[in-house]
Amino acid sequence: MHGDVYAPNIEAVIKCIKCSSEFNLMDKRIVCSCGGLLQVEFKKIPELTWSVLRGRAFKLWRYRELIPVPSEAQIISLGEGGTPLIKSVRLKDLVHVKEVYIKFEGANPTGSFKDRGMTVAVSMAKYLGARVVVCASTGNTAASMSAYAARAGMKSIVILPKGKVAKGKLVQAVLHGAILAFIDGSFDDALRAVTQVAERYPVYVLNSLNPWRIEGQKTLAFEVADEVGVPDWIVVPVGNGGNISAIWKGFKELKEAGLTSKLPKLAGVQASGAAPLARAFRKGLNVPEFVNNPETIATAIRIGRPVNWPRALKAIRESGGVLMDVTDEEILKAQEALARFEGLGVEPASATSLAGLIKLKEEELVDRDESVVLVATGHALKDPDVIKYHSADIHYLSSEGVLALVREVVGT
Ligand code: F0G
Repeated sequence: MHGDVYAPNIEAVIKCIKCSSEFNLMDKRIVCSCGGLLQVEFKKIPELTWSVLRGRAFKLWRYRELIPVPSEAQIISLGEGGTPLIKSVRLKDLVHVKEVYIKFEGANPTGSFKDRGMTVAVSMAKYLGARVVVCASTGNTAASMSAYAARAGMKSIVILPKGKVAKGKLVQAVLHGAILAFIDGSFDDALRAVTQVAERYPVYVLNSLNPWRIEGQKTLAFEVADEVGVPDWIVVPVGNGGNISAIWKGFKELKEAGLTSKLPKLAGVQASGAAPLARAFRKGLNVPEFVNNPETIATAIRIGRPVNWPRALKAIRESGGVLMDVTDEEILKAQEALARFEGLGVEPASATSLAGLIKLKEEELVDRDESVVLVATGHALKDPDVIKYHSADIHYLSSEGVLALVREVVGT
């Protein structure tokens, strides 16, 4: 499928962000033996021009040279990336900023940004000879991993917090043939179980701890810069903090490659009931105080111990940005506003970006003449149960009743 894409000769390593140990790209570990997070790093950033990149399809693998998967690896792809960047027409007047774009990640093959990370990490898993992949998930990672694993011919096991995963995501994992293990407890407990499993058995872990997930997810930054340049702000929902770290890495690499000249400010948004990073940021802490019983309607980001916190905090501080939290009520209002002012259906976690922007504007952190990209991480269809929280104009009528209703609506 990507035979037309130049196969790069890459100089890159996997490096621990804590102890700086370096490993070969073929190394299977996903965390360092010191416990630190691993990151793929270029020894030398590839030389590229926009015109070369733009000669290829607007999809994730357009940026092949900046994704250092070895050139012999078979790419497991479902055509992810190249998602719409939609210029807001009505919301912009509501929040009073120069330009607001919404990066609609719900348009990815399984309906969330996770597909960006999975095409890369599952390709690596396959290349490294993995037969069984595993993840803890609030739902989207499970849906995406099981789809890509199916395509790669691997078995997938997903560990999920019982009763807390949105229906659409469960349907997907079941349909793609994953083995579903529900545990009593939160996502954080599920991730602990994954760590224990990985210590004992030959499984490949595909949570966002995995540095290859980050490599895929950073392409969102490439696409935004490719289409409209670097915005002043990029607002990102935060759970584990993997995606916001990835997006920052993407913008930094573009600048390093000389493809852009500026960096955006990052605004990370958590749900108030699951906001250890926002709280740490507010208090100026270097290490977050974890939340034991996270609770929010935005189940995708119902996370109390975000594993990527060191890179997320670092990214946000480096960018001169902010971390904040929004209430469930604000999330639902933002979800409705995106749907009813712009025609964009997003799941609750994804609406935190608009709710966050509204707050940023109220607190005058974002200026009237700044441009903003809101990352809408997942599709509304993922979580049909939230319908009960929204106003609905529904009628059960006879045919005469229908005539009367329409007469009233059209106003004659
Ligand atoms: N938005 C959605 C729709 C998500 O599913 C997630 C994470 C996030 C935002 C937060 O991203 O964790 O990289 O900061 N979902 C994971 C999952 C935890 O299991 O699907 P993050």
